[in-house]
Order: sequence, then C-alpha cells, then structure tokens
Amino acid sequence: MELISRMLDGSIPYHFEGGPEPVRSGPGARQEDRIDHLKRVALFQECSRRQLKSVARIARVFQVSADTVITRAGAAGDEFFLIIDGSVRVQVSPDKEATLGPGAFFGEMSLLDGGPRSATVLAATPVRLLVITRPHFADLLQEVPGLTHTLLVTLSRRVREAEEREQRLASASTGL
Ligand code: CMP
Repeated sequence: MELISRMLDGSIPYHFEGGPEPVRSGPGARQEDRIDHLKRVALFQECSRRQLKSVARIARVFQVSADTVITRAGAAGDEFFLIIDGSVRVQVSPDKEATLGPGAFFGEMSLLDGGPRSATVLAATPVRLLVITRPHFADLLQEVPGLTHTLLVTLSRRVREAEEREQRLASASTGL
C-alpha cells in the first residue's frame, strides 16, 4: 500500500522520520485560512464559498520532501492528488517521463477505473499536495465546477500521447 494511504488509514503513524508531513489544517488553522489556501488553486477559482467549504472539509494537505515516492506503478490506489506547490515526475514508461506542477493533478485513473496505479509518481522538489480519498472523490466531482470536464480532457490527452508514443516506437522498430 502507498505511504500516504497507510498514514490516512492509521496503519503507520502520521509523524515518522523522512515521511510525508500532514500540514495541519486543524485548530491552528481557521476554516477561513483553509479556504483562502484553496482559493489560490486555479481549479477551485470558480467555486462558490459553500463549495470551497465542502472541499476544505474533505481534503487533507500533505507536505512531502523531494524524491518521495507518492504513487507506485502496479500498487492499488485510493487517493487523488492535486499539486498546490512544487512539482512531481511521472514515470509513465522507461522512455517517457512527464513533469507536473502547481494546479496539476494525478491519481485520478485508479480512482476512476479501480485498477492499479499506471505510473510511479515521485516528488521532484518538496511538494505540497491536496489529498482526496476514494470515499470523497465523488463529492469533489460534485462540488468543483468543471472538474469532470477537466478530467476528461486530461485523460483524452494522456491516451492520445500514449498512442502517438506507441506508433513512434512501432515505426522506429520497423524502420518506417
Ligand atoms: P493513477 O494510475 O491512479 O496513478 C498514477 C498517475 O500518473 C495516473 O493515475 C495519472 O494521474 C498519472 N499519469 C499517468 N499517465 C500520465 C501521463 N502520460 N502524463 C501525466 N500523468 C500521467
């Protein structure tokens, strides 16, 4: 099971050396502060105050250090991640790596189809992440205007890129 999943389900403690740090959104941070924080994420800019409050209730914020493995290809996955700041490297295949930065998301594929993680995702820098667990993913789609559309566009782009890559590899191996 992935590191953040194990922290969220309580099977490992939240605080251990070198692990992801949950960014406290508890008593120290008033709901107003948490909402201000969400407002800075482009994806939530169209959200009403009520919608932002709902997202603030279901999301957790984690800080992970550079090189932390966030998702591992082939593992079961139960979280959706949105990058608040920092960047991650997605190891899509041996010959393809993508970099995602603030405002981008990952982890949607396993939540949508229930299959294993399609890629290993590593923190390229220290990263602050908004994490939504599977039981709350449907609420997120309902609360954030345009998110379903953005997910579809992103998935279409990833399929198209994968197909183009396959074609390039096939042409290279046949010499055409
Ligand atoms: P998931 O399969 O749940 O976990 C790994 C994630 O990597 C995957 O969801 C996508 O969010 C992301 N991912 C997979 N392929 C690509 C790609 N070609 N470009 C960017 N991100 C990707």
